[in-house]
Amino acid sequence: MKDVYYVGYVDWEVRNFHGYSTHRGSSYNAYIVKSGEKTVLIDAVKRPYFNYFLDSIKEVCDPAEIDYFITNHVEMDHSGSFPLILNHLPNAELIASEKGVEVLKAHFHGEIGDEVFNKIRGVKEGDTLDIGNGKIFTFVPIPMIHWPDSMVSFMTDENGKNVLFSSDAFGQHFATSKRWDDENDLCEIMQEAEKYYANILLHLSGLIAKVLPTVGALPIEIVCTAHGVCWRSHIPEILEKYTKWCKGEIEEKSVLIVYDSMWGSTEKIAKALAKEISHRGITVKRFNLTTADYSDVITEAMKAKAILIGSPTLNNGLYPTVAEYLSYQKGLKPMHKVGLAFGSYGWSGQAVQEIANIMKETKIDVLDELIKIKFVPKPDDLDFKEIIDKLLEKM
Ligand code: FEO
Repeated sequence: MKDVYYVGYVDWEVRNFHGYSTHRGSSYNAYIVKSGEKTVLIDAVKRPYFNYFLDSIKEVCDPAEIDYFITNHVEMDHSGSFPLILNHLPNAELIASEKGVEVLKAHFHGEIGDEVFNKIRGVKEGDTLDIGNGKIFTFVPIPMIHWPDSMVSFMTDENGKNVLFSSDAFGQHFATSKRWDDENDLCEIMQEAEKYYANILLHLSGLIAKVLPTVGALPIEIVCTAHGVCWRSHIPEILEKYTKWCKGEIEEKSVLIVYDSMWGSTEKIAKALAKEISHRGITVKRFNLTTADYSDVITEAMKAKAILIGSPTLNNGLYPTVAEYLSYQKGLKPMHKVGLAFGSYGWSGQAVQEIANIMKETKIDVLDELIKIKFVPKPDDLDFKEIIDKLLEKM
């Protein structure tokens, strides 16, 4: 795009982003905008990729020519190299949201003196930056999307090209050599945007629902994200997806079964439940937590109407993988779900009730009936017609 240059880092290697499995890698997007009068750097990259970042900047301009450095978001995937790049920007005014100034200080107090923090321009909603030749930035804080400091920078220009530098919003963990949505496989991008929303933003849906109309009302022609591809051809589609995801809307009333098993009995229950649901013509997906990773599973949880979770009782409590998944799901709070708890046990059998209790804490409408089977299920134990009837009534 004319006057906007990509200086980020495409991370083909990363497969784990603070516990989130990134099967298709990621990118930490940073940009330079030139107006002919002024030069602006937007965001930085993870610290290990600082040298690559600096080289990319030097291909576009002499860093000493940069007049403004905007930090849209302080999380370390974007600001890790903030202290390092400052050494190369002797003439840049630093800009962040008012909260961002605070959060930058909380991160880099050991490396940067107060005299630097005191000079950062803290912007609030509607503040602008005119960089000449018709290019004007307007700043819009978007607190908690993804951190309290987050903001987007909206640039209008003389040719009517309106560009939203959207920070984490609309991003995807997706490594690609092609920068635009229409140059990549749309299904792959949407899958990664969905997984990103489920793992990073889902629990912030209430706030997103409030902010989205403001962002959606901007005359946006291009969205430059902080991760993955930039949007130019499919902006209505990604806005529509965000609108649905933040309301907890789903495309199909499907069922997710998540469980682990010590000696195969809880798995027998899971398989029998899946079979019964499938016989009713309802889409069902089944994940054993020994082999499935919880960031994939939570994505399915966001899309399903019913979440069935199973655990054997181990040491009078939950099986560790199930406890881990439940903790993750509890934090992300999938909305408008129906739940069912199940499991095999030997003598005490507390795990099933614990599952139900944890699901209820996040307002999942859990069936009062629990499926608890002592040791190995007999064929009659696995007749779930009645309980699936009850589950379907709730769905
Ligand atoms: Fe991509 Fe919240 O950082």
